[in-house]
Amino acid sequence: MGFVTSGSTEGEKDPSPQVEEIRLRTASDLMNDDLEVATANGTKLRTVAVNLLYGRFQALRDITLEVPNLAITAIIGPSGVGKSSLLRLFNRMNDLIPGVRVEGKVEMDGLDLYDPAIDVVELRKRVGMVFQKPNPFPMSVFDNVAFGPRRHGLKDKGKLRELVEISLQRAALWDEVKDKLNQSALALSGGQQQRLCIARVLAVEPEVILMDEPASALDPISTMKIEELMRELRRRYTIVIVTHNMQQAARVSDWTVFLTMGEHREGILVEYGTAGQIFMNPKDKRTEDYITGRFG
Ligand SMILES: Nc1ncnc2c1ncn2[C@@H]1O[C@H](COP(=O)(O)OP(=O)(O)OP(=O)(O)O)[C@@H](O)[C@H]1O
Ligand SMILES: [Mg+2]
Repeated sequence: MGFVTSGSTEGEKDPSPQVEEIRLRTASDLMNDDLEVATANGTKLRTVAVNLLYGRFQALRDITLEVPNLAITAIIGPSGVGKSSLLRLFNRMNDLIPGVRVEGKVEMDGLDLYDPAIDVVELRKRVGMVFQKPNPFPMSVFDNVAFGPRRHGLKDKGKLRELVEISLQRAALWDEVKDKLNQSALALSGGQQQRLCIARVLAVEPEVILMDEPASALDPISTMKIEELMRELRRRYTIVIVTHNMQQAARVSDWTVFLTMGEHREGILVEYGTAGQIFMNPKDKRTEDYITGRFG
């Protein structure tokens, strides 16, 4: 048996009915352990023997991995192991760093993402990203969500308004901001800002959403809202999340990937599988030591 016993909500008084409901839900379907469910929609992303180097430093070695379609994959492992680097392979964000070299294959739907013919702007539309610290633009709530679609050429005011509303609804934020669409996004709370950033990604209609510790700067209630939202979004999107929070990985992910440090501090993949398998029945001793807190 793994270490996870319940949703972590200590320290809160008088939780709202919504929070109570989330807590019950997470306790009941904690750790998705059905291989057929996790992989029912095929493979969305794949890496084959990937090495990633920053100059002479090798950050990832020989990573071969499959990310299931329409599911949540969590990447876990100690700090500095290369989780963010791995995530950034999928929308070629590492390209922006000077001296980076990627060897091996990274594919989406069988398409080689490092083929020189790939349009990177188009790729980043299909593969959106949410960061640790909410980073809304210094503009109104509406303009934040409309930013991407406008940039991709949508001018029709009616369509834009509709898309903004749908995106805010899907990000579970509409009810809280529908009367403040013209106010500055910077006036929203941290948790609201993070859901706004998710709405901004949804507005360009991506297929994949990459999330790098999206809840680590948030309070427990906002964190639960984001987790609940992710479970909802996975019906339409493939989600890859990096998290340091083992309970969060166990609660939200269908598929869990564990990385550890090799001999030269490079990230290597130890194992991946359903969250239930990784957390309840890890095959590798290194995984067990990590998830039970003996290392990392
Ligand atoms: N832009 C960069 N230039 C040079 N080295 C980098 C760069 N970004 C990351 N690295 C190095 O690559 C390794 C992996 O970093 P990465 O940020 O991917 O780790 P991480 O697992 O996300 O860590 P954390 O959990 O602390 O966020 C580290 O040794 C880091 O110092
Ligand atoms: Mg990181």
